[in-house]
Amino acid sequence: MESMEITKARSVTGTIVPPGDKSLSHRALILSAIADGISTVANFLPSEDCLCTERALRQMGVRIERPGTTVRLVHGVGLHGLQHPQTDLWMGNSGTSMRLLTGLLAAQNFKSLLKGDESLQKRPMKRIILPLRMMGAEISPANKEGNPPLHVSGRSLLGVRYTSLVASAQVKSCLLLAGLYAEGKTTVTEPAKSRDHTERILPAYGVKVEVEGNSVTVYPPQSLRRVDAELAGDISSAAHFIVLATLSPGAELRIRNVGVNPTRTGALDVLRRMGANIEIDTSPYREDTLGEPRGDLLVRSSPLSATTIGGEEIPRCIDEIPVLAIAASLAHGDTVIKDARELRVKECDRINAVTTNLRKMAVAVEETDDGMVIHGRDALTPVTPRVVIDSFGDHRIAMAFAIAGLLADGAATTVTNTACIKTSFPGFEEIISQFR
Ligand code: S3P
Repeated sequence: MESMEITKARSVTGTIVPPGDKSLSHRALILSAIADGISTVANFLPSEDCLCTERALRQMGVRIERPGTTVRLVHGVGLHGLQHPQTDLWMGNSGTSMRLLTGLLAAQNFKSLLKGDESLQKRPMKRIILPLRMMGAEISPANKEGNPPLHVSGRSLLGVRYTSLVASAQVKSCLLLAGLYAEGKTTVTEPAKSRDHTERILPAYGVKVEVEGNSVTVYPPQSLRRVDAELAGDISSAAHFIVLATLSPGAELRIRNVGVNPTRTGALDVLRRMGANIEIDTSPYREDTLGEPRGDLLVRSSPLSATTIGGEEIPRCIDEIPVLAIAASLAHGDTVIKDARELRVKECDRINAVTTNLRKMAVAVEETDDGMVIHGRDALTPVTPRVVIDSFGDHRIAMAFAIAGLLADGAATTVTNTACIKTSFPGFEEIISQFR
């Protein structure tokens, strides 16, 4: 169990480049694996979560070369070329791997078993199992709550029109991947728009997709064509440094190659509404093979005021809420986060983890059923001389509180259980060491 000891940041200046986007890395590997020909995926995120997807595809006979740490050459096996894996598929901590690959595997002509770590074993899978069963899939979870491991027996599927109760890109993408193999088209409607990477990138592989409001329809293709893609940087990783720069006096930080897909930029909108000074320059990145907008950000320090975060904005900043809560702790006034019950079923119960840890930094905070109320202060001050913050094994909690440590006055902050950061951001510690 690794830990990090963090003291206040000195000067937050210079340029950083966040790693490739996690969501795009999973999707580009999966679609390249079932395309015809060799695809290049550059600026791939070699984090534990994405490596789980990569390993699983290899186990199904896909050759994936690694000419560099962040480059993958994927030898596509074609839409019907995946092979029966000889052993279980290990999804680790990755909900995205588990949900997206279950959609893909539900339509293959073989059986597979998808397993995950303790956290993943607690995460809800009924949200994919029920609609996949409507398509004709055969999936057996470990218990009646629908938790992993999942036994998947591939079947011929029928297209479906499905209205999801949750705004979840993992549910949507799972069904769209199954829909590639179904007879007839598949339409997924969600209550609010979740990240739209799958529907943006499928056309790059030659797949017909229609988007109408919060509904997406995929038409089963004959085949997928190869791509050469360079992935946008991960805005969820960048968000930690946007908050750090905003709240560090005299900061001026450039963050290059950040994905600014509007379904992911909720945190920028929230922070700007609170008073953050964030400039976005998209001009260096006109063309993107995968249809994903990118930009260079310039963040200067600025005082923040409280805000309310809720409704349709939540899916657009769902992964950034832990670090937005840190921003809210140092904003003037009371910030309300609501409609965010989904946070309770992420890698940990993030509502509970954030409120528990904020109290250790002397922040007055109330936990609500679907969010929290944070009473902003002038300074974060660890309540004991050596405050110990537990990540609850959740990478985003670990990173958000590492940022809190960089912003806190007084004693050092120790964040324990930080090995999980590797699931999404392997270079995080090196970047923060620049500012310590
Ligand atoms: C992801 C979707 C989100 C997000 C996760 C990655 C994806 O989950 O929290 O980190 O790549 O589709 P939900 O779609 O379940 O909200």
